[in-house]
Amino acid sequence: MSFDYLQQQLHAEQCPLNELAERFGTPLFVYSKAQLLANWQQFAKVWPAPHRLCYAVKANSNLAILNQLAKLGAGFDIVSGGELARVLAAGGRADSVVFSGVAKTRAEMRYALEQGIYCFNVESAAELERLNDVAAALDKVAPVSLRINPDVDAQTHPYISTGLKTNKFGIAMTDAVALARHAASLKNLNLKGLDCHIGSQILKASPFLDAADIMLDLIRQLRSEGIHIRHLDMGGGMGISYNHEQPMDVSDYLLKLQQKAQDVTDLTLMLEPGRAIVGNAGVMLTRVEFNKPGLDKNFLLVDAGMNDLLRPALYQAYHDIIPVRQSDAEPSIVDVVGPVCETGDFLGHARHIAAVEGDVLAVLNAGAYGFTMSSNYNSRPRAAEVLVDGDRAHLIRAREPLEQLWQGEQLVEESR
Ligand code: LLP
Repeated sequence: MSFDYLQQQLHAEQCPLNELAERFGTPLFVYSKAQLLANWQQFAKVWPAPHRLCYAVKANSNLAILNQLAKLGAGFDIVSGGELARVLAAGGRADSVVFSGVAKTRAEMRYALEQGIYCFNVESAAELERLNDVAAALDKVAPVSLRINPDVDAQTHPYISTGLKTNKFGIAMTDAVALARHAASLKNLNLKGLDCHIGSQILKASPFLDAADIMLDLIRQLRSEGIHIRHLDMGGGMGISYNHEQPMDVSDYLLKLQQKAQDVTDLTLMLEPGRAIVGNAGVMLTRVEFNKPGLDKNFLLVDAGMNDLLRPALYQAYHDIIPVRQSDAEPSIVDVVGPVCETGDFLGHARHIAAVEGDVLAVLNAGAYGFTMSSNYNSRPRAAEVLVDGDRAHLIRAREPLEQLWQGEQLVEESR
């Protein structure tokens, strides 16, 4: 484990978190480079070339994180022009990028075509036409994969389940063959692959493997018609343990995928993991402001809120919250809540914690969908981010200064 107690002090690798909170202030996201690399390695070691791994940038898009992954040879899964710009700024290669997302604008398509990305994961007939148009205007041929909705139940939170036919994502199975034929006939498109993404925080391999069967059958059928699909991208979604859940065995899943695809020659397999790469590689540090005994329950008021870590408020997501300094004090049962003016602003309900004003707490597994979902709500500057490497801590994003809160805003001059 990269986050562990050593002499009663919680450390990130060899850095005591208490000291990082002192030095960089709170709220603070702290990432462990060793954990990040180990997570990547867990996938890479059972995923030989030509198979590809495209890290899902939305999980954590800090340039330093993207740069670490680029150095390991990662590809990237993006969902906006902004994410493409980040990948390029971080030293990632455009030709390793797949572009997902249901509503790509013309401007985003142009930008990605000009940069020369690996492929567009197209989600609808209308998007296909738009992409063909935009490519024609640039006198280019756009590489395309069709995102199919395999209609499998990922058995996860409804907000992050994406592969059911009731979701907005992907092309329905019933339309898939006709649309693939159409895509293959368009002059400015090159239909290279199929993709799917059935949801996130999925703990069992079976929904993925069911989806793989469906996708592979479709590829066999299209190939028999002369439409030569060259890659299958199974998306991301591999879950992690937030509350003692048993996540699936990643190596086993990746090997089973390869076995299933064995009879389909020249097929490159791809994955888009996000959470499984960065989730447990990060914690959020927050300082206790007040203990507030209530009539019904007791509150621990801390300096991080839903604007810093939205997952509990948005999904009732569970994150462990532990003190960075272990004490022998008797824990009490508290709701850990933030300073934001919303009842939904909480980090954890009914937790057993012994903490007093000034103590620092670590919210665990905050590396994925933590900082990237943060906002300036209540005019709160966004947190700083630090990457720990052994006994060294690098500031990889400075805390926002107050002036940045109104950057770009303008007063209206009174007209006379
Ligand atoms: N590929 C596509 C097309 C996606 O939509 C996503 C995530 C991923 C890959 C990466 O999925 P992962 O491996 O991280 O599960 N904010 C939510 C999660 C939303 C996931 C959206 N799509 C959360 O905090 O749980």
